[in-house]
Amino acid sequence: MFDIEGLRVLVTASSRGIGFGIAKVLVREGAKVVISSRNRERLYRALHELNSIGSGEAYAVQADLTRREDIERLVRETVDRLGGLDALVYVTGPPRPGRFQDLRLDDWDYGVRLLIMSAVWLTYYSLPYIMESTNPSITYVTSVAVREPIETIALSNTLRISVHGLVKTLARELGRKNIRVNAVLPGYIYTDRIKEIASDKASRTGKSVDEVINDMVKEVPLGRIGKPEEVGYLVAFLISKYASYINGASIPIDGGLLRSVF
Ligand SMILES: NC(=O)c1ccc[n+]([C@@H]2O[C@H](COP(=O)([O-])OP(=O)(O)OC[C@H]3O[C@@H](n4cnc5c(N)ncnc54)[C@H](OP(=O)(O)O)[C@@H]3O)[C@@H](O)[C@H]2O)c1
Repeated sequence: MFDIEGLRVLVTASSRGIGFGIAKVLVREGAKVVISSRNRERLYRALHELNSIGSGEAYAVQADLTRREDIERLVRETVDRLGGLDALVYVTGPPRPGRFQDLRLDDWDYGVRLLIMSAVWLTYYSLPYIMESTNPSITYVTSVAVREPIETIALSNTLRISVHGLVKTLARELGRKNIRVNAVLPGYIYTDRIKEIASDKASRTGKSVDEVINDMVKEVPLGRIGKPEEVGYLVAFLISKYASYINGASIPIDGGLLRSVF
């Protein structure tokens, strides 16, 4: 469908949730994909599932995105396994939920490494290989919170905006080399993270987790929470040749949740 057979892709934070949904779609479409995350057992369970799809190829590299040396090794091992790199798909682990007043300074330090420095390190170490590709791209998965802040995720509201500064900077800097750089902004996607946010909100409001999730569903014009693979289809399109004139874009995938026009 997307003509991405054989495309060599690194998808980070991808043993479950959105990253895994993306990896699944890419492997199904015939891409060669490296997944990564911290917990070895979960990572290899995810790899096993990907390898049972029957098309594409999948490999796994254990890495913690808050550690620069892990990211350097992750990119090196990815290139060794895939024989090069065409596309980087940045997904991170979720930062700690909470309002500003709930967070400690340590949470901010960790959040900066998890959300911002991981983007810088991944881009820095991947770029020399991506520059060699004939179909190069970088896609950053962030959140609708960069457009309309969400009450209980201060770290995400504040730090992810830097990644969008990076997207716009790189789109201009690398455009002449035909490297396309874009961002995807998920709304509510059904994963462990959404359950974590719902249970955090439930503990503040006295509602049950199910009630909080029902409230979220009511906010979405399409009347449901999204699926990780739906984010995967958008990413598959963005890294394909069919998105050849899309550069510097930030594309929400949120069932119409965002109210703002731009
Ligand atoms: N779900 C949503 O509705 C939604 C909406 C907008 C944005 N987002 C954002 O999208 C990202 C993915 O969310 P999700 O819902 O897919 O989360 P999830 O279901 O909790 O999955 C998180 C994935 O990230 C990995 N991970 C966590 N911390 C990591 C670290 N330090 N280094 C490497 N891997 C790490 C986890 O594996 P290990 O724990 O084994 O490392 C797991 O594979 C998050 O940044 C989240 O904030 C989510």
